[in-house]
Amino acid sequence: MKTIVIISSFILAGVLTALFFGFNLASGTSPIEYDDDQEGISEQVIIRFSHVAAENTPKGMAARYFAKSVQAKTNNEIQVEIYSNAELFQDQNEWEALTDGKVEMIAPATAKLSTLFPNWQVLDLPYAFPNNKAVQEAYEGKIGEKLLNDLSQSKGEGLGFWYNGFKQFTNDKRPIIEPEDMDQLHFRTMPGPIIEAQFEAVNASTSELSFNKTYQNLEVDFVDGQENTASNIYSKKFYEEQQFMTISNHAYLGYAVIINEQFWNKLSESHQKTITTSMEETTDWIRRHSIEINDSHIRELKRTSDIKIDVLTNEQKKKWKKRFMPVYIHAEKSISPSLLKEIKRIQEHYSSP
Ligand code: SIN
Repeated sequence: MKTIVIISSFILAGVLTALFFGFNLASGTSPIEYDDDQEGISEQVIIRFSHVAAENTPKGMAARYFAKSVQAKTNNEIQVEIYSNAELFQDQNEWEALTDGKVEMIAPATAKLSTLFPNWQVLDLPYAFPNNKAVQEAYEGKIGEKLLNDLSQSKGEGLGFWYNGFKQFTNDKRPIIEPEDMDQLHFRTMPGPIIEAQFEAVNASTSELSFNKTYQNLEVDFVDGQENTASNIYSKKFYEEQQFMTISNHAYLGYAVIINEQFWNKLSESHQKTITTSMEETTDWIRRHSIEINDSHIRELKRTSDIKIDVLTNEQKKKWKKRFMPVYIHAEKSISPSLLKEIKRIQEHYSSP
């Protein structure tokens, strides 16, 4: 009997101990045991990358290419979360969102920096770039270097430039072939005094509207037309509200890729190196693919939409260039002379004789 009592007491003590410690009844706030995985999570770096374009555009695809590259190279230590189509911020708020640390990366069209950094207007000059090689020389040469350097005075660190394509006009009033065809038309534009001056030079008026509000403004006829790359016209379905498109290649639309400076400075040297390498690889990718993406979107517009497409001849382009000459005089007011000299050099170098 005595033995049974002793054995029963041991069993009871065992059960109570298991309940107390095993099921953690001792304390609801006891520290969580050390675990390597937990350490891994707290060390993970998240880059929130916000942009306004659709996913099937050069920028949308490049953002994904960049994210994959960074994640693979860092074994997922850096995660890049992409927010496209202005899901987080419209174009007017992107810069503030970046500098306030609400996102870590943005890639606005270069024109959208031109009100903050006037030298950036140089990239909007009409017919500055005779071809894609000329754009590359500006973005990856002296002009790009100077413009990224201008950014370094701010809370944004410029990582480089991404390509999209040449801008084309669309409208729903008439075919645009001669500069006079622009007379009295009202266009949606990106911000920037040079873009405004370009339309003034052909007697058209403008409203600066965010990219993701353009479709609605075309739909309600607040504006007659807009200028954009084929990939943006196709992916945002502007062709549904526009009857005429002119392949004018009159100016270039590309992007500045910018990272929050404070975030950048806190990254380890090895993470900074990885981001720089992935950025170089992505720039190389978008330079090679943006032309084909835009060409394929022109083919899709021809195949699937009712928009009537005219292509300007070299003779017609000469008349446009002449009408746009006052824009270059306007540019002297706010763009550094060395940049204007360099853009003219590039323009002449790549113009066919
Ligand atoms: C973009 O490609 O990011 C937008 C361009 C625009 O605002 O027209």
